[in-house]
Amino acid sequence: MLTCKRNKFTLPPSITYLNCAYMSPLLKSAEKAGIRGLRAKRNPALISNEDFFSDSNELRKAFAQLIHAPDPLRVVIIPSVSYGMATVARNIRLRKGENVVVADQQFPSNFYPWKRLCDDYEAEVKVISPPDTMIDRGKKWNERILESITIGTRVVAIAPLHWADGTRFDLMAIRKRSEEVGALLIVDGTQGVGAMPFDVQSIRPDALICAGYKWLLGPYGIGLAWYGKYFDEGVPIEENWINRLHSEDFTNLVNYQSQYQPGALRYEVGEHSNFILVPMLLKGIQQLNNWKPERIEAYCRQITQEPLNMLKEKGFWIEDEAWRGAHLFGIRLPSGSDLEKIKAHLLRHKIFVSYRGNAIRVSPGIYNTESDVKRLVRELLKTVK
Ligand SMILES: Cc1ncc(COP(=O)(O)O)c(C=O)c1O
Repeated sequence: MLTCKRNKFTLPPSITYLNCAYMSPLLKSAEKAGIRGLRAKRNPALISNEDFFSDSNELRKAFAQLIHAPDPLRVVIIPSVSYGMATVARNIRLRKGENVVVADQQFPSNFYPWKRLCDDYEAEVKVISPPDTMIDRGKKWNERILESITIGTRVVAIAPLHWADGTRFDLMAIRKRSEEVGALLIVDGTQGVGAMPFDVQSIRPDALICAGYKWLLGPYGIGLAWYGKYFDEGVPIEENWINRLHSEDFTNLVNYQSQYQPGALRYEVGEHSNFILVPMLLKGIQQLNNWKPERIEAYCRQITQEPLNMLKEKGFWIEDEAWRGAHLFGIRLPSGSDLEKIKAHLLRHKIFVSYRGNAIRVSPGIYNTESDVKRLVRELLKTVK
């Protein structure tokens, strides 16, 4: 079992930060790497041609290890989820009347591309809402999603868990069903990968897209995507020099190349060799590979279990453990609670969580302790007396 790793970060001691789903704090090691990258440009004579490739290669390898992908060349550096999704949408053609299945209130970067694509082809975004009941809510929501995947479904675009309240989506079952009808499975892993195990070999998505600044412990402005075989001969959304074959040879760049670098590298964003962001994200993912997502998940489960049981006993609603993240979950208030009052109260006590829809979104990390979660519970209980 892992122990608290707060000493690896520089979170101020006075705050209770339970909001990694918003943004992770910075690892000290990533901060150092970023400063090194920034300072490197003081003397560009020391930035070699190889430097354009070396850390990017390491980053791809580290992420491939994290998601159990055998081929790091399928991993691509992206600036944002919207960018990674734009690549996906660019390579899908729909027929009139077909549909793309998404979960209700999915994160916008995994909704708007589908809306655009469906509008272009007179197809439909099928938004699958949760059931009206709070009994077996997660289980029933998953059943609804599976039932909605039918012969006309071309794409299921979803996440391992819902960004707003942590409801888990059973990607194995969704993959099985989507395969039965010949639909692609596109996964936004931003709120899951890094904090819970994710194995591309068992889930077999067609694409996995992740922002880097949350559970991958990276800086803002860089993320990672993994593209499967479907995208092998696809068209990127931009044409940059470094994605072409033999771009390592700087003397030959204007002997224009018709071929791309191998694997999925054609999809990488221009200037992806970012000398500041790449080494920072690399530190984050190396650290995660060392801690291991399954152990981070177990740690989050351990520090939240008892405090959350206390809340449930007092009339707060939290999804069953099997159908929510250990690191990300929504707390719904007893009827008659005043959310604005609660927000102000928690802020006064320097407890940081998010408010998404009608849930208080709590997302602890490896730098939290059970006392942090208990503090949240104690203050929440005071507000509903
Ligand atoms: C599920 C999910 N996807 C993506 C993002 C970020 O998207 P983008 O990188 O396009 O800004 C977030 C940010 O909160 C998110 O929660």
